[in-house]
Amino acid sequence: MRLLLDFVVFSFLVSSTFAAPAKECAYKIKEEIASPPGWTKRSKAPAGHLISLRIGMPQENFHQLEKQLYEVSDPAHERYGQHLSKEEVEALVAPHPISLSAVNDWLNGFDLKEEDLVRSPAKDWITVTVPVKMAEKMLDTTYHIWKHTASGDQLVRTTSYSLPSNLHAHIEVIQPTTIFGRFRPDKSMISIIEDAPATVVSDGSQISAGDSGITVDASCNTTITVSCLKQLYNAVGVVGSGASSIGITGYLGQFANIQDLQSFYADQVPAAVNSSFTFESINGGLNSQNLSQAGGEANLDTQFAFGISSPTPATFFSTAGSPPFNPDTTTPTNTNEPYTDWLDFILKQENPPHVISTSYGDDEQTVPQSFAIRVCAGFAQLGARGVTLTSSSGDHGVGDGNPNPATQECFTNDGRNLTKFIPTFPASCPFITSVGGTTHIPEVAVSRFFSGGGFSNYFARPLFQELAASKYIASLPKGTYAGLFNPNGRGIPDVSAQSDRFRVFVGGRIESIGGTSASSPTFAGFVSLLNDARIKAKKPTLGFLNPLIYSLGVSGFNDITVGHNSGCGTTGFNTSVGWDPVTGLGTPNFQKLKEIVTSF
Ligand SMILES: *[C@@H]1O[C@H](CO)[C@@H](O)[C@H](O)[C@H]1NC(C)=O
Ligand SMILES: *[C@@H]1O[C@H](CO)[C@@H](O)[C@H](O)[C@H]1NC(C)=O
Ligand SMILES: *[C@@H]1O[C@H](CO)[C@@H](O)[C@H](O)[C@H]1NC(C)=O
Ligand SMILES: *[C@@H]1O[C@H](CO)[C@@H](O)[C@H](O)[C@H]1NC(C)=O
Ligand SMILES: *[C@@H]1O[C@H](CO)[C@@H](O)[C@H](O)[C@H]1NC(C)=O
Repeated sequence: MRLLLDFVVFSFLVSSTFAAPAKECAYKIKEEIASPPGWTKRSKAPAGHLISLRIGMPQENFHQLEKQLYEVSDPAHERYGQHLSKEEVEALVAPHPISLSAVNDWLNGFDLKEEDLVRSPAKDWITVTVPVKMAEKMLDTTYHIWKHTASGDQLVRTTSYSLPSNLHAHIEVIQPTTIFGRFRPDKSMISIIEDAPATVVSDGSQISAGDSGITVDASCNTTITVSCLKQLYNAVGVVGSGASSIGITGYLGQFANIQDLQSFYADQVPAAVNSSFTFESINGGLNSQNLSQAGGEANLDTQFAFGISSPTPATFFSTAGSPPFNPDTTTPTNTNEPYTDWLDFILKQENPPHVISTSYGDDEQTVPQSFAIRVCAGFAQLGARGVTLTSSSGDHGVGDGNPNPATQECFTNDGRNLTKFIPTFPASCPFITSVGGTTHIPEVAVSRFFSGGGFSNYFARPLFQELAASKYIASLPKGTYAGLFNPNGRGIPDVSAQSDRFRVFVGGRIESIGGTSASSPTFAGFVSLLNDARIKAKKPTLGFLNPLIYSLGVSGFNDITVGHNSGCGTTGFNTSVGWDPVTGLGTPNFQKLKEIVTSF
């Protein structure tokens, strides 16, 4: 109610401002994209529709932050483990005072005052909610309602926007303008949810997990439980001490049901029964605890991540704000990638969890590069503070988010309509540890849903991965997939873990769920136990993991050498000895990794 009332008064002021032609500098196009394929332009957006603009100012000293992030994350560097404080990180990403004042002047010109603005902790982002007709003046553009042909989702967007030329150096990005992502959970393959039997039948027989000498219950080949994962990844009997912490992000209205968690614990982690997690609501993220609304994704993620790491203190973050929505209402819509809202929240925390897993993603090309780079820079800030981030690598092999391989389209949206492999964001951000999927015992790359992988078109290959990825690319027959992937891009994934037939409790039922949605929280659970070992040895937490796992850590992984990740009408990439863009370095061997991470 209050918001609508504000809006009435507000638009009054706005119209009077519009009358005054107080422009210092001519407008110049800031960003322009081709009409996005798969979307149809409908009517003009209603003038009163409220839109939350997110304005990113340049982070002057980001290169410094990045340099320090690599130093504190490289086990060969003397600064390893000396993570930065919240204040140190904020100082390194703060915009220049001149940028701040130039942007303030511009906003004041539209009668937007400090109290109308929400600033991020480092002041590098401003969020301001305005009616479409005002956003159109500010950005010299026209917003339309766009409809996604296949799903019917609607967005209010434009394909081009402008800024006064003097502001181009002081504003890096403004969204939502050209962002056409649909932000879906990676579990989007309906066939992956099946009813599971009431009990796991185990006759006590064991099967070999491969060369490692490890054996696991035979039942693990068809049903994955916490016990299976601890057997397979060499962590039988390992439990957290409570010294570390772990978090799971939730979006798209998903919440984790506590009653289901208790049923899961009774079934798989009896010692954890009656324990729970902290719930954090961001922008009104829901938590009704209505059993029939329990989220499959949220339940899967929390049950396995928290089950593996129990009794480690755990947090579930529920961030609201996602399409689809009704563009005809004046309810403010925040339909950027909601990661930025989550980042605002988490970067404000003094003590964020030591490891946080995300099982949501989008086709990289649907997130404008300037925006993806800024979101990725937010993840770097968490890494610098000692937080490990893991993310699903995607469920559609080298292809796009279309779950049906037969209709998978792999065309670029840059107006050229070229055929290309489509990597997943945020897995493609180098500051995230992206997790691919395996299945069965002995483990092979998951073939039922295809382990997402490939090479980023946005992020150059980071140094930590150069040797591993260039060796893989050199091993491909000359000309393989030429033009379909970026041979200089950041390779995805970094690691992998089991990702199919997870036994999950959802809405009082037992289901069998698969996808890289399962492998990311699984991997995060084991990282949490490694952090626990580090803390017990009086060492700092692992933080940004990639520089470590590609160097000292390599021998702590089970190399997966069978399988490939089909997509875009191809068989995708093959697994190989060493790193590959299907299963990364492989799956974790906890005892070996523990030895490595406590050795320095
Ligand atoms: C892109 O090319 C494919 C194959 O030629 C075609 O089916 C599709 O309609 C094209 N899409 C656009 C947006 O032009
Ligand atoms: C596990 O199941 C897969 C697929 O059915 C099969 O190929 C494999 O041999 C099984 N593993 C063992 C140890 O029986
Ligand atoms: C869990 O709490 C219930 C109710 O307080 C109690 O009856 C039960 O014994 C507890 N179970 C465990 C394993 O602590
Ligand atoms: C729980 O959710 C179901 C399904 O959305 C709904 O029908 C029911 O009314 C809800 N129950 C309560 C108590 O809100
Ligand atoms: C993957 O392996 C198969 C079987 O050896 C081979 O035919 C195919 O060319 C390989 N693909 C790539 C991309 O290396």
